[in-house]
Amino acid sequence: MSYPYQIRTFEEYQKAYQKSVQDPEGFWAEIATHFTWHKKWDRVLEWDFKGPGAPIVKWFINGKLNITENCLDRHLPTRGHQPAIIWEPNDPEEHYRVLTYQQLHDKVCQFAQVLKNNGVKKGDRVCIYMGMIPELPIAMLACARIGAIHSVVFGGFSAQSIADRINDAQCSVVITCDGAFRGNKDVPLKSIVDDALVQCPTVKRVIVYTRTRTPVSMIKGRDVWWEDELKIVETQGNPDCPAEIMDAEDPLYILYTSGSTGKPKGVLHTTAGYMIYTNYTFVNVFNYQPGEIYFCTADIGWVTGHSYILYGPLSAGATTLMFEGIPTWPDAGRFWDIVDKHRVNILYTAPTAIRSLMAHGLDFVKNKKLDTLRVLGSVGEPINEEAWEWFYEHIGKKRCPIVDTWWQTETGGILISPIATVTPLRPSYATLPLPGVQPAVMDEKGQEIQTPEATGNLCIKFPWPGMFRTTWGDHERCRKTYFDPYPGYYFTGDGCIREKDSYYRITGRVDDVLNVSGHRIGTAEIENAINMHSDVVESAVVGFPHPIKGQGIYAFVICTHLDDPELTRKDILETVSRVIGPIAKPDKIQFVKNLPKTRSGKIMRRILRKIAEGEMENFGDTTSLLDPSVVEEIKQGRLAMS
Ligand code: PRX
Repeated sequence: MSYPYQIRTFEEYQKAYQKSVQDPEGFWAEIATHFTWHKKWDRVLEWDFKGPGAPIVKWFINGKLNITENCLDRHLPTRGHQPAIIWEPNDPEEHYRVLTYQQLHDKVCQFAQVLKNNGVKKGDRVCIYMGMIPELPIAMLACARIGAIHSVVFGGFSAQSIADRINDAQCSVVITCDGAFRGNKDVPLKSIVDDALVQCPTVKRVIVYTRTRTPVSMIKGRDVWWEDELKIVETQGNPDCPAEIMDAEDPLYILYTSGSTGKPKGVLHTTAGYMIYTNYTFVNVFNYQPGEIYFCTADIGWVTGHSYILYGPLSAGATTLMFEGIPTWPDAGRFWDIVDKHRVNILYTAPTAIRSLMAHGLDFVKNKKLDTLRVLGSVGEPINEEAWEWFYEHIGKKRCPIVDTWWQTETGGILISPIATVTPLRPSYATLPLPGVQPAVMDEKGQEIQTPEATGNLCIKFPWPGMFRTTWGDHERCRKTYFDPYPGYYFTGDGCIREKDSYYRITGRVDDVLNVSGHRIGTAEIENAINMHSDVVESAVVGFPHPIKGQGIYAFVICTHLDDPELTRKDILETVSRVIGPIAKPDKIQFVKNLPKTRSGKIMRRILRKIAEGEMENFGDTTSLLDPSVVEEIKQGRLAMS
């Protein structure tokens, strides 16, 4: 398969972009013809970002298809024996696995039968909590095969977080492993699931895959082994599992993500638009050529893994490499070893990983060949120039373009990014919108800035096929969060600068959402977790610049009493780990007596952010503070810490 819609020159990009704006329906309909449908759509698009039911977004209305037929079956005649997934284990001494398209197809069908045998039907929600092993994508695709909606929960989340997500989506089945290997750690996934399920009455079945041989408790009537269930399917003697015919707008998956308030939201993606958008952006942004080995270092528990380890690459018939471990184990050369071992052509990773490997020095790079690399990618946070230059020079050897891809869980796929080999690069700029993407920069009054040069909040003013449709179970919240701030626009939560040549630089979140090592966490969520500790009266969390993580978490905490501050600090960290997960643990905790509040009782975070950054002056207008002496006290406390 070659890709008739692959952009090869900058002129082609400009033409495609122009067409996508002038005739979006014609543009996407033409691309959609290159997929397998059971029934063609009647109309391409129906949308409303503003009216009473907003957002309403429907693509390829009444079209019928199954995404797994597009990711698997349709490749079998031409590339059944080509590797679909290459799996590199945590331990380099263990043998890697390769699944061809035919093998992956067969395994997905078998496991889809397992799901059916366990009562899973179209529309049911299935929670998946697994490590990075091939059975994770197999489980996801098996859900999609029978029309069940998967909700993957990242392996770093706690039992409480899993329970919240399971209960929000009312999942009936959980798929997990006994444990997961990560570096020299063995994370007891099943045991964490067991803790979660104490609170989850909707879950009737847990399917457990054996990976680490960690002892697990298997509850009679609820828990079954993946391997035993496969044997049952074998004895049933029907290895194929016909794909459920889905409507274009049937839900494909839910993925929870943090916002500025309350609990994480279940972002809902649907079938046809998401498939076409992830495919189109994968093929174009990375300039993927058939036969190439593509390695995305993300975890499938995040949207990057969903869209660019799984659905984008497989729908394009690509070979996608997934890695179980971490970049620094057994040593900080692991990524580069993998690149050389599997002759990787395209490497997609995150600035935080680059900075962490940079900090380990060039010794881990110097004996690596890295000669197969052709394209590099970055995602998750702004990439600083130093990291960009290091990646470009030492990994790409100055011959590989770096695509700095800006997007979000909600957008489903990349929106602003260079197209590899096509778009002129500029370090720390995500550059230009992809075809189909119509950005708008808003000023302080909420108006769209019409000049090419603009600084403000980033919105998108026209739907693209991969965008989310709602937040699970709460459409109202979806409207309020994303569409009310600027009526008629999707508000991204990011700030940006647009240059006069229309290049975009994303400057980071403008709301109370932090980006810690590329993980998105709401400050309110962390505060709620800290406040659960019995000695805590109140807390305020802000981000501060962190050399490796991008942003670190800084918590100002008021306690009822502090007999042993060091122990209380550790207790608070333990509490946050239990409530959210280790990824949300504050890097710094400062105990304070008061927080700077306005007369109306609002915490002045602006001041706390400055203090957390170590800046002790220029707090701006502080006249509305109830008690200005509080600031002085916190400053003194901060100085005493550093
Ligand atoms: O602030 C932006 C940042 O990550 C946020 C989205 O996080 P999440 O939904 O977890 O998805 C991450 C992977 C797509 C955005 O609002 N972000 C993501 N990519 C970039 C970025 N910021 C700057 N440059 C990027 N390339």
